[in-house]
Amino acid sequence: MTKLAFFISGTGGNALNLVRACREGRVPGEPALCIASSPKAGGIEKLAAEGIPTAVVDRKGFDSDEAFSEACYQEVEAAGAAVICLAGWLKKLWVPPRWEGRILNIHPGLLPKFGGAGMYGMHVHRAVLAAGALESGCTVHLVDNEFDHGRVLLERRVPVLSDDTPEALQARVYAEEMKAFPEALAAFLVALKPAKP
Ligand code: GRF
Repeated sequence: MTKLAFFISGTGGNALNLVRACREGRVPGEPALCIASSPKAGGIEKLAAEGIPTAVVDRKGFDSDEAFSEACYQEVEAAGAAVICLAGWLKKLWVPPRWEGRILNIHPGLLPKFGGAGMYGMHVHRAVLAAGALESGCTVHLVDNEFDHGRVLLERRVPVLSDDTPEALQARVYAEEMKAFPEALAAFLVALKPAKP
């Protein structure tokens, strides 16, 4: 079973959802590690309470994205994880060649629109409403060295309602995230390679 690492900066909601999906057999992966980018990321305690090994790699302790990212990969590689899921991760992660194609992210909008630096969380939903878009959704994609840019694996769509608030839209999109990330990760792992005996 492929070992998985989850990277979080916030509530850990998506990571916990993926842990649940693994345990229920909906995702053929084994949660091996959760990394938080700051000790303030509240989700890390929830993941630890689920029995997932955790580590804090505080971005403040590093003077470059590359050094910070390498410190994260060292933890991941020590845990034997082969795939990384960015689940509410707000720091720039530099992707070296050895990790290309094995890092997934979930974005609360329909890429390539409403993505890029600074476009996260409620900023996305406000921008969608301000643009008068008729639909929104979430995108699971591979991570490369440009923000919100790698190959799209799966998207799920929701309507934008005429009386929507950013909060209402966020809740509608988040409900789809709970389905999209497990679904995309499961398909990705099945296609990755046959499980080692
Ligand atoms: C989600 O909306 C996700 O799409 C985005 O960050 C948010 C994280 O939510 N990348 P949570 O911390 O998993 O609840």
